[in-house]
Amino acid sequence: LRSMMSTSAALKVTQDSDSISDVDWDNLGFKTRETDQMFIMKCDTDGEWHRGQLEPFGLLEVSPSAGVLNYGQGIFEGLKAYRTTDGRSLLFRPEENAKRMIFGAERMCMPAPSVDTFVDAVKQTVLANKRWVPPVGKGSLYVRPLLIGTGPVLGLSKSPEYTFLVYAAPVGDYFKEGPAPIHLKVESMYSRAVHGGTGGVKTICNYAPVLKAQLTAKKEGFTDVLYLDALERKYLEEVSSCNIFIVKDNVIATPEAKGCVLPGITRKCILELAQSLGYKVEERKVDVDELMDADEAFCTGTAVVVSPVGSVTHRGTRVLFSNSGVKRVSSIFYKFLTDLQMGRTADTRGWTT
Ligand code: COI
Repeated sequence: LRSMMSTSAALKVTQDSDSISDVDWDNLGFKTRETDQMFIMKCDTDGEWHRGQLEPFGLLEVSPSAGVLNYGQGIFEGLKAYRTTDGRSLLFRPEENAKRMIFGAERMCMPAPSVDTFVDAVKQTVLANKRWVPPVGKGSLYVRPLLIGTGPVLGLSKSPEYTFLVYAAPVGDYFKEGPAPIHLKVESMYSRAVHGGTGGVKTICNYAPVLKAQLTAKKEGFTDVLYLDALERKYLEEVSSCNIFIVKDNVIATPEAKGCVLPGITRKCILELAQSLGYKVEERKVDVDELMDADEAFCTGTAVVVSPVGSVTHRGTRVLFSNSGVKRVSSIFYKFLTDLQMGRTADTRGWTT
């Protein structure tokens, strides 16, 4: 049985996405799907990582007292693989995700895989799930690396064992609006991060706490929530799952990623691209009043790519951003970035793998 299973797994990975008949490639949305293989690697109490390997996608067996289940010792990453017209699968700056995981692991007292090990695991996962990379123009294969404390603990302490795993699922647009402008509500009650906290690392602990405000906002008809700083409730931080930028005249500004804001990889690319396109770029405190007075605003992230903001509502005042007439800066960045990610333009920066 075992040899039959591995033969069928081997056959699966050589097939093309066209051969997957039960996936509606035109309506992928952003949801999880069981794909073929996942990569797993463990680190024992000795702090040494064991050799990782691909396994059929499936359930994990962990102790009920695993560190991640009890005390949230876990971080994650997100990156995408796109299919190119000549049949390759392109990753975008995977070493940046690896470095961010190492940075986050240090904050969360966890051992992290090296940049090479991380990137190799991501590549193996994409290749093993190649048939799930959506056809050109239909979406991407979202790759989710996780680093979690899987050893048992009871008193609050570091987990004695860690698991690094990488799984993947084909995805389309993140927001229900698709590429259309999104509508944000500035959150006035809840905070996402505080100075000295973990807002600037991609720990799993940053995400469940935003659900309450997000669900309320969705019920009120908004797409998502924009958080302000917890102290003065005056300066922009980020949206639940992405960074925010404002545009005024020739200046593009975004909150600095100093502790409370996640240093997004798309954010970093936009800062570099904006500068090379002649915009003045500012990473600084951005007052919410500046957002309300901006020419344009947009969000960036791996999942959301570059999403234009159609409106912002703050303390009952709604500002609409014009999305017609002059060409939106966000659509220039969206095209620039996705052309590169999908291999439609030459990669002069060495960002694709
Ligand atoms: C991503 O953009 O890749 C993220 O990790 C955000 C997540 C909430 C989907």
